[in-house]
Amino acid sequence: MSESTELEGRRFPAPEQLAAQANVGPDAYERAAQDRLGFWAEAADRLSWAQKWDEVLDWSNPPFAKWFVGGKLNVAYNCVDRHVEAGHGEQVAYHWEGEPGDTRTITYAQLKDDVCKAANALLELGVQAGDRVAIYMPMIPEAVVAMLACARIGAVHMVVFGGFSADALASRITDSGAVLVVTSDGGYRRGSPSALKPAVDDAVARTESVRNVLVVRRTKQDVEWSEGRDLWWHDVVDRQSTEHTPEAFDAEHPLYIMYTSGTTASPKGILHTSGGYLTQVAFTHWASFDLKADTDVFWTSADIGWVTGHSYIVYGPLANRATSIMYEGTPETPHRGRWFELIEKYKVTIMYTAPTVIRTFMKWGEDIPAGFDLSSLRLLGSVGEPINPEAWLWYHKNIGGGRCPIVDTWWQTETGAHMINPLPGVTALKPGSAQTPFPGISAKVVDDEGNELGDDSSGLLVLTEPWPSMLRTIWGDDDRYVDTYWSRFGKEVYFAGDGAKKDADGDIWLLGRVDDVMNVSGHRISTTEVESSLVAHPTVAEAAVVGASDPTTGQGIVAFVILRGNAEDSGDELVQQLRTHVAKDIGPIAKPRQIMVVQELPKTRSGKIMRRLLRDIAENRELGDVTTLTDSSVMNLIKDKLPASS
Ligand code: WT7
Repeated sequence: MSESTELEGRRFPAPEQLAAQANVGPDAYERAAQDRLGFWAEAADRLSWAQKWDEVLDWSNPPFAKWFVGGKLNVAYNCVDRHVEAGHGEQVAYHWEGEPGDTRTITYAQLKDDVCKAANALLELGVQAGDRVAIYMPMIPEAVVAMLACARIGAVHMVVFGGFSADALASRITDSGAVLVVTSDGGYRRGSPSALKPAVDDAVARTESVRNVLVVRRTKQDVEWSEGRDLWWHDVVDRQSTEHTPEAFDAEHPLYIMYTSGTTASPKGILHTSGGYLTQVAFTHWASFDLKADTDVFWTSADIGWVTGHSYIVYGPLANRATSIMYEGTPETPHRGRWFELIEKYKVTIMYTAPTVIRTFMKWGEDIPAGFDLSSLRLLGSVGEPINPEAWLWYHKNIGGGRCPIVDTWWQTETGAHMINPLPGVTALKPGSAQTPFPGISAKVVDDEGNELGDDSSGLLVLTEPWPSMLRTIWGDDDRYVDTYWSRFGKEVYFAGDGAKKDADGDIWLLGRVDDVMNVSGHRISTTEVESSLVAHPTVAEAAVVGASDPTTGQGIVAFVILRGNAEDSGDELVQQLRTHVAKDIGPIAKPRQIMVVQELPKTRSGKIMRRLLRDIAENRELGDVTTLTDSSVMNLIKDKLPASS
């Protein structure tokens, strides 16, 4: 019997002590079921509003939602000032640790001063409410300060993950119309400084909207300088006043844009607004992780370049006055125990990370975590992809010491905050399942026609009621917003793009994407984006990309390419060239695990590439049904080309 079969049916009830003191008990589900909008209004009441809302939700023009209509607040005030005013200025907001081991301790009082100075600097640079500001930074405190400074003055931040290419940055700057880029000379990655400024120089040269580039000095590496355009953070920000009066903005004032991959080659600018977003990230952070602001030390291991960082390193924890860890580097530098060392050092109580990291730790072996004192931990979280029961159990035993509940949280860039997850003081946990919609969230599993399925069946995941932290649109493209998310089952049903199963108890299991989106180490990458990068290479005529299951990264990118007539197949050398090309074009996370040069691609009579068959090959399976192919011998041609081992 395999470990996963053995696990089936096993439940992990909420630890008694945790349940007795939990922030949220079983009544939350009843309360939300009776009065969903009243439930969210109570959650919003946990924030400070300069002006109370008139109406909780305006859904008169679906799918365009307005939450807390008429309400006004300042997001940065809610994250920083109000805690200082309440006498918590000396509490640590972030224990920051750089990869080389340098540290900074930032209290709420210091954070307030830093944010005010940065806000004043942005104003001096002519940034106004509504303007877009690109942030392209390593994991250093100034990244958070820059985000909050934008929020404070009503500017819309657009953070681009530092691992993305100049090209990716340029297209996001152009699409958003950013007037300022905040960046740094570089950051530390796997033991050495890695430059960021050259990519900014390259990107800005190809765009028209950027007036200034504000550069934080982190690694002290040499940078090119464009006089008049480029400014050092320490020259401009350090001399500013620590006084800045926050202005209250409308609840629906745009807070940020975050680009994410969809089914086409161009990423979508997901727009989040202020009041509803902050309400749900703060409430879920407090409820899903049972956050106790006075005693917990909270750590989300994500990068702020992803939505997980926005919602659970920055906005949720700060709105709740949490003490967080912020770490610059990767888990293996300078050694494979680095994370456990940080847990021990800062006595982390709540750890939130991704299954791909857990599986990497599993590969490295349980002796590594066993060498550290992890007894401070009381709760664990997971996000990014389904956590397989084996990884769940390993996490539970070797990191959680068998005593910490694991909260598996399903959500998306688009949803802004947790949507489906157990509650740690309530739910008896089932390894591998995200289980239940969060109180106040309506999730269903439906068939292709949109009919709700009963227990014990699989279909598509939909959300049938609007929620406070939902995306409001795709930046500059309302039609694409409607088409992508709200047209498959009508304009009041959100199509998530994930397959899901309901088990006999009605618990939800996420089954992965049903569209052309891959999930590699918890990062979303579109097959079309990688395909268009490949065909942009002079040797490639046609490309098809699939996500093949991978024991560590969840999925790995496998590409099939047809070369142009005049291109020479130099074998491994060309393959390496193409892999590097994609990494450079999009970013290292998009580098294909494997590229196979083939003569033909399997297509239907209407010319659509049959990725299903390519996936069969990439995963080394018996081929599925080939009868709809124009030419079924194509598959034999492809198989003949494969190296014997794969
Ligand atoms: C996609 C969203 C949510 C922040 C990080 C990723 C997958 C995410 C889970 C989970 C199963 C999950 C889904 C989703 N996903 N969390 N706990 N269980 N699948 O955000 O880049 O917007 O990706 O990640 O497929 O649609 P994202």
